Amino acid sequence: MQNFTYYNPTKLIFGKGQLEKLKDEVPQYGKKVLMVYGGGSIKRNGLYDEVKNTLAEINAEVFELSGVEPNPRVSTARKGIDICKAEKIDFLLAVGGGSTIDCTKAIAAGAKYDGDVWDIVTKKVAASDALPFGTVLTLAATGSEMNAGSVITNWETNEKYGWGSPFTFPKFSILDPVNTFSVPRDQTIYGVVDMMSHALEHYFHHETNTLLQDRMVESLLITVMETAPKLLENLESYEHRATILYNGTMALNGVVNMGYRGDWATHNLEHAVSAVHDIPHGGGLAIIFPNWMMHTLDENVGRFKQLAVRVFEVDPEGKSDRDVAVEGIEKLREFWNSIGAPSRLSDYDIDEDSVELMAEKTVVANSEFGNFKKLNKHDSLEILKASL
Ligand code: NZQ
Ligand code: ZN
Repeated sequence: MQNFTYYNPTKLIFGKGQLEKLKDEVPQYGKKVLMVYGGGSIKRNGLYDEVKNTLAEINAEVFELSGVEPNPRVSTARKGIDICKAEKIDFLLAVGGGSTIDCTKAIAAGAKYDGDVWDIVTKKVAASDALPFGTVLTLAATGSEMNAGSVITNWETNEKYGWGSPFTFPKFSILDPVNTFSVPRDQTIYGVVDMMSHALEHYFHHETNTLLQDRMVESLLITVMETAPKLLENLESYEHRATILYNGTMALNGVVNMGYRGDWATHNLEHAVSAVHDIPHGGGLAIIFPNWMMHTLDENVGRFKQLAVRVFEVDPEGKSDRDVAVEGIEKLREFWNSIGAPSRLSDYDIDEDSVELMAEKTVVANSEFGNFKKLNKHDSLEILKASL
């Protein structure tokens, strides 16, 4: 375990009826609020009216930015930044999933920067300030509600990058499982895959003495695998929505990965795929992760074996470590298939024609990526071809 400092200032407000807390939280930051949301799901499920009515009760002056895309575009963030600058916005409120929150983070940082926000996303410039913002989360997946990260796409150049700054933690996040009842079956599955992938990214590292961290990550995986099939039988189960919602936050708020750094190559690969093909993040991860695992297995077979035995209940008796490890990877694939996640890029009509371009997008400025195993463009080509 390495030395670490843990800092996470986001106030997490969890449970039924907690939207009311907006009345305590928002006034601390000012009157002029920019409400940011996506393509209309919050209008269909009634949350839009609830938020507007709650903000009206505290006499907030509300401006709106709608239409944040899944895989949010820098062009949309720029629109939000223009509103913030023109209207002198005090506070941003993201109402939606990870895309809406990530876009809000870019708006918050961009509103305090004189140049183009893409400079911040590409890390040419570090954010030096941001407008305060809060979130009302509607989809369990990314963990963006309690971390400082944001992933933004430039559709003109087919680039999708993650960035973050100490200024882009939400001030608060309101997580009411009821607000996730209307998440459709496919998006629920993608969310499940995403949070499991965050746990898996953490799991693959070379640090020693991470006994508690390993058990916490395993526990996230086991809990999702126990709960997701039950949730998919009843998408309006408060109990199961709550478990999954809490799990999504805990998988990427820094709690389970203190003192070591996970791999994250699969996320890099997936971001390259969705930068070119605009597919859902969780769908891409379900396809790529098992193939990354097969590609990197020999880096530390023991780690894969531990995962297979402890999480996927593979019986190691009379088998080689490698066979146990491979059986674990197969069980992961089987689980994702069983809940209806995609397993091949061809499920999204992606064929070998774009493999070269996607592989190119994984290696910004010819850099290697991944921490458990360093990968280069050749590795990307192999993993992507195995995923076709
Ligand atoms: O746009 P609306 O109409 O709201 O519909 C959305 C969207 O179509 C819909 N949805 C959300 N809540 C709903 C709902 N539909 C019905 N009822 C509800 N309650 O779901 C669709 C997907 O939403 P989106 O926000 O795109 O999903 P998600 O939360 O999975 O976010 C994905 C984005 O986050 C990035 C991904 O790369 C992707 O761009 N990530 C962000 C991370 C972070 N900031 O820490 C880490 C992740 O690894 C990830 O890379
Ligand atoms: Zn993810």
